[in-house]
Amino acid sequence: MAEALRVGIAGLGTVGASVARVLNEKAAELTRQCGRDIVVAAVSARDPKRDRGVDLSGAKWFDDAVKLAEKADIDVFVELIGGDEGPARASVKAALEAGRHVVTANKALLAKHGVQLAEIAEKKGVLLNYEAAVAGGIPVIKTMREAMAGNQVTRVFGILNGTCNYILTRMEAEGISFDACLKDAQRLGYAEADPTFDIEGHDTAHKLSILTSLAFGTRIAASDIYMEGISNITQADIRAAADLGYRIKLLGVAQRTDSGIEQRVHPTMVPTASVIAQVHGVTNAVAIETDILGELLLSGPGAGGNATASAVVGDIADIAKSRPGFQHGPVFGWPAKELKPYKKAQMPSHAGGYFIRLTVHDRIGVFAAIAKRMADNDISLESIVQQSAGPETEAQKTVILVTHETTEAAVRKAVEGVTKDGHLTDKPQVIRIERAE
Ligand SMILES: NC(=O)c1ccc[n+]([C@@H]2O[C@H](COP(=O)([O-])OP(=O)(O)OC[C@H]3O[C@@H](n4cnc5c(N)ncnc54)[C@H](OP(=O)(O)O)[C@@H]3O)[C@@H](O)[C@H]2O)c1
Repeated sequence: MAEALRVGIAGLGTVGASVARVLNEKAAELTRQCGRDIVVAAVSARDPKRDRGVDLSGAKWFDDAVKLAEKADIDVFVELIGGDEGPARASVKAALEAGRHVVTANKALLAKHGVQLAEIAEKKGVLLNYEAAVAGGIPVIKTMREAMAGNQVTRVFGILNGTCNYILTRMEAEGISFDACLKDAQRLGYAEADPTFDIEGHDTAHKLSILTSLAFGTRIAASDIYMEGISNITQADIRAAADLGYRIKLLGVAQRTDSGIEQRVHPTMVPTASVIAQVHGVTNAVAIETDILGELLLSGPGAGGNATASAVVGDIADIAKSRPGFQHGPVFGWPAKELKPYKKAQMPSHAGGYFIRLTVHDRIGVFAAIAKRMADNDISLESIVQQSAGPETEAQKTVILVTHETTEAAVRKAVEGVTKDGHLTDKPQVIRIERAE
């Protein structure tokens, strides 16, 4: 049998401790599958005394993750610390430069420094595997990188943040407000004490930026993503969406257009009958649309110790199965040096259907004035209804519009016009509609 694969794990929190446990508990199966043992030879975390719930007595302790990456007697460095700078970046870079394979679950690091790290890995002829960094346990990286050769991706989109999907699912199922849902999610451990990163879309954007690069062969451009979170979604939106045959999801969408590549994260209305609309709670999903395959949807657990560890262990096993001298495929599907500059499609040129909810004074002529503003901007309406149910008082009404395909620029201009006309009693709500099978 080949020599054991020696693994060093930096970070023994939710994911790191689970990875160590799975490697221990599944040692016999992994040896049979990989044709060699996988042993945890070194570990690092902040607190050497903390009980990690797993036997690490065979592993050498390092206070410093960078030292572990550089000096430990290991073949693979597994980074599970987190963060886009500091010890995570320094240790991954050090491991790659020392010619060690790296496995990481760190989307923030890859979104910021992924291309630079990929260049080092490819120069050194080692693997940089990161299946767990996007959608946790769902094998989307492998699918896009390995199983779809020759396909031209036209669009990739998904529910990439469990916290947001959990909140939106409960808002719809139980009719409760965003704030009440968020508090409950925090109490149950589905949302962080500071939830901004999740609910404002940053986490989704990090993952989307990696998918975009895999899909279109472009350099990662996380800072170029248009982003809106879910904190202004109300019960009125959720009810109106349901009446119209839609469900609201926070989607990350990357799409090839005539003017470049769109990358956007925002609340989106998807048809209730579509497959992605059936993805509830903390579950994640990624849809990939290509010229050869059509639309593929992968769905499953996007976070949590075990699900994430499953993806990390899969990445380690791939390294265990690879043989010395074997030429590894490029990190982002195309050689890092050949990734094209990201050509950004400007948001105002985004084309699609729109849901517009306006709370207006209950006066004669308002309805006609709104319709005129839409027509003046060449917006063709699929429907315009005045709602009797909802937050109205006698003095105000809700007008719900659904547009046929139009542009973001036209919608913004029309809504600006309606606002200037002085008919609104509250902020207008605009939600994009996404085509989904
Ligand atoms: N949790 C998930 O469900 C999930 C899902 C997908 C991806 N990820 C990614 O996986 C990574 C780890 O997440 P997590 O949830 O496991 O985080 P976590 O529970 O906060 O664990 C972080 C670990 O890093 C250790 N650490 C912190 N600073 C360190 C340093 N300077 N040197 C060595 N170790 C250090 C901590 O040590 P102490 O324990 O001693 O404090 C802790 O063990 C992140 O990149 C995250 O984005 C997580």
